[in-house]
Amino acid sequence: MIDVLESTSQTLRELAQDGEAEGTVVVAEEQRAGRGRLGRGWSSPKGGLWFSVLLRPAVHPSEAPKLTLMAGVAVAHALKKHVRLDARLKWPNDVLVQGKKLCGILAESRSNKKLEYVILGIGINTNFLVSALPEELHKTAITVRELLRKSVDRLSLMRAILNELEAGYSAFCSGDFGEIIGQWKKLSETLGRNVRVETGTGIVEGVAEDVDPGGALVVRTPEGLVTVDAGDCVHLRQDPMDN
Ligand code: BTN
Repeated sequence: MIDVLESTSQTLRELAQDGEAEGTVVVAEEQRAGRGRLGRGWSSPKGGLWFSVLLRPAVHPSEAPKLTLMAGVAVAHALKKHVRLDARLKWPNDVLVQGKKLCGILAESRSNKKLEYVILGIGINTNFLVSALPEELHKTAITVRELLRKSVDRLSLMRAILNELEAGYSAFCSGDFGEIIGQWKKLSETLGRNVRVETGTGIVEGVAEDVDPGGALVVRTPEGLVTVDAGDCVHLRQDPMDN
């Protein structure tokens, strides 16, 4: 484990450009410039589990976002088996426990007509308290240490996640994404909820009804069903008057 990096995904991207092999993992004790989705930062204090995995799947670039859902399922299964946490998934890339964010996943890919590589970045709030995060996250984030009232062995948790990722990735590469979507739906905290999704082109609001075979979210709006490929999803309270 490297002590401090700007970002494990940034370091792994540089290695990937130099031809590093699939399966390489970069892990850091602390990140100075952790990256989140949609150009946001990702606060990564000492005590967290911050790592990135290099994948080179032989699929069309449009398939790459599915790896985010695959990774969510892998992390949730590992958390359940390894530390008995009841992890749930929020579309597309958050792992929640007790409705709060425990883990974020960021899949970044590079293609040049064909997909060259995908960097799967996984950040888990493990052995610190949310007070170590910026104040705006105190109500929405949670850590393993807070949930279990003790610290976890991060390397063995990472090993458990890597094992689950290996199984999910091999299903993905054999074209068995249907199985992964089925598991994702079982773990979903999003389906059946009122949601607001900010897409690149506007806001979609309604009930999250399904995830389609490609991993897109299907939302029932007053105007009918809308399929959202990517976006920032917020779970709304069930009573719209409460929002
Ligand atoms: C999100 O916005 O929810 C995704 C956060 C992903 C954070 C992880 S931590 C390890 C890897 N390195 C980064 O800079 N980001 C990802």
